[in-house]
Amino acid sequence: NINVDVYNKGVVMSPNLYGIFYEDINHAADGGLYAELVRNRSFEDSNTEAVAWNSVGGATMKLVKTGLLNKAQAQALEVGFAGNGKASGINNDGYWGINAVQGRTYKLSFWAKGNLDGKLNVCLGNDKKVVAVTEISDIVTGNWKKYNAEFTCQENQPNSRLWITSEGKGNVVFDVVSLFPPTFNNRENGLRPDLASMLLALHPKFLRFPGGCFVEGQESSENAFHWERTIGPIEERNGHKNVNWGYRTSDGLGFHEYLQMAEDFGAKPLYVVNVGIWHGGFTPLKKIQPWIDEALNALEYANGPVTSKYGALRAKNGHPEPFNIEYLEIGNENNQPEQKNLSDKYYERFKLFKKAILAKYPKMHLIGDVAAWGTDDPRWNNPEKVELVDEHYYRSPAWFARNFNKYDSYPRDGQGIYVGEYAVTQGFGVNGSLDAALGEAIYMMGMEKNSDVVKMASYAPIFANLNDLKWRPDMIQFNSSNVFGTPSYYVQKVMADNVGTRVLNVTMNDPYTKNLMARTVAPEVSKFGFATWGTKASFSFDSFSSENASQISVDAAKPMLEIKGDWKSDGNIVSQTSDKEGCIDIVNADIKSNQYTVKAKARKDGG
Ligand code: AHR
Repeated sequence: NINVDVYNKGVVMSPNLYGIFYEDINHAADGGLYAELVRNRSFEDSNTEAVAWNSVGGATMKLVKTGLLNKAQAQALEVGFAGNGKASGINNDGYWGINAVQGRTYKLSFWAKGNLDGKLNVCLGNDKKVVAVTEISDIVTGNWKKYNAEFTCQENQPNSRLWITSEGKGNVVFDVVSLFPPTFNNRENGLRPDLASMLLALHPKFLRFPGGCFVEGQESSENAFHWERTIGPIEERNGHKNVNWGYRTSDGLGFHEYLQMAEDFGAKPLYVVNVGIWHGGFTPLKKIQPWIDEALNALEYANGPVTSKYGALRAKNGHPEPFNIEYLEIGNENNQPEQKNLSDKYYERFKLFKKAILAKYPKMHLIGDVAAWGTDDPRWNNPEKVELVDEHYYRSPAWFARNFNKYDSYPRDGQGIYVGEYAVTQGFGVNGSLDAALGEAIYMMGMEKNSDVVKMASYAPIFANLNDLKWRPDMIQFNSSNVFGTPSYYVQKVMADNVGTRVLNVTMNDPYTKNLMARTVAPEVSKFGFATWGTKASFSFDSFSSENASQISVDAAKPMLEIKGDWKSDGNIVSQTSDKEGCIDIVNADIKSNQYTVKAKARKDGG
């Protein structure tokens, strides 16, 4: 019997419960969602070599650091065309191949200066076959000039390169060589449609960006995300080192594009600001004002009137209407107990940011950090009020399943929870698994029944280019031409597709579901077995480390059985066998440190 209580209203579901967490990790942006096909387009990836670029037909390549296009550019590439009667020049590898698709029209642009006594030939293809070709007959001379071309592909060739060659002779300096396929919603400088569609299909209620650790950066404050360096024409963005995840980012997918993406998805933007902390360093509290100003300027860019300084810039960049950021997170994982010096100051930082932001944007929903690692029970430990706190969990399937009731006991004191990052990460390969997805689904159901306190949640991270995996698993995996979702992706989708408005109280009374309910009060129980005549009823326990499950069996013939054991990681096996029909109801379980006491009742009417 399943009894649905339709007379009492139950918990009202948060209208913003399911959103997405976007971070440039595993080439989620360049070589991923950001549709740019040319790798190292501005020649900034290394100061010793032109990464991903190759010379062909006897051309020479040299990185140059003077006479540059503008202040944002630190390097350009000088190509010496051989002019030996054959084609010579350069080609680009793309991000592990450029996906040339029959019938698609590609938009090429680049900046160049120099002298060349011939036309440029541009094509897509591999060493053996050209599948798309065009000519730039406007001979390169003199000062920096932008060149554009479009060409349509005649055949599929997923591992193409972009070739720029000439039969002429001369020296040309190139910069910001860019190639775009058609983009999601036909946006300029836009997104890869197949990847963006996977996100859209989740109907995200909010889009958290730009991370994650990507917000914080590593080694130096220069490697943090600085929104104002990521807007405007692509040639004016200098990009920065994404040290956390091991590559340089072009910042082509920048602050404006994130906001645009949220708008295109119908999601509320949730911006995470840096509080003057990066991995390996921090700005002392007394010098924090520039970081606060940076956050305020970002909000003015997104929300300010066109008459304001940054609102005008937004309009200049093609979006006069405000984007309306309503949610702002103050720091990412910056309230960590082990970062003693910093975390002691987190609340001080939070207070300063909060004061400055609410003074200008009194309706802004602010999110604070709580300990993200090393505890299952992170709490806000400061009298300063915060509307939402961001909890992060990367755990095992069993952990998620047994925390189905986690939020039942949370105080209803006005402070809400944003489960900003969660995923099964333990023990599963790159493709995720059904077990992982089910663990997450059970936890999500626990969030739903407590949606009066859990207001928002986002699985993390989303994307991985399979050619450069730094973090696994991720729910959407891809290469230059293919994409698939893991089981976790489809759990996110099925839950988001079926969001209700209220969660009614449900009680169940069949032996099977009683055991399921029992599972929720016996956190360490991970499996149940059912006794049939002459067999053993059994259930198993995870040890504290969750690595070694120890199995116990109980006597199904006795009406009530109490098992006591000291369940340390090596397990302490209690075993009794039964030859009678029955099944086991766990009626009580108690955990004190490593001591587990379980009361189990054997019933005769089980299956
Ligand atoms: O999601 C991957 C990383 O995990 C995020 O960058 C960080 O916030 C967390 O530690």
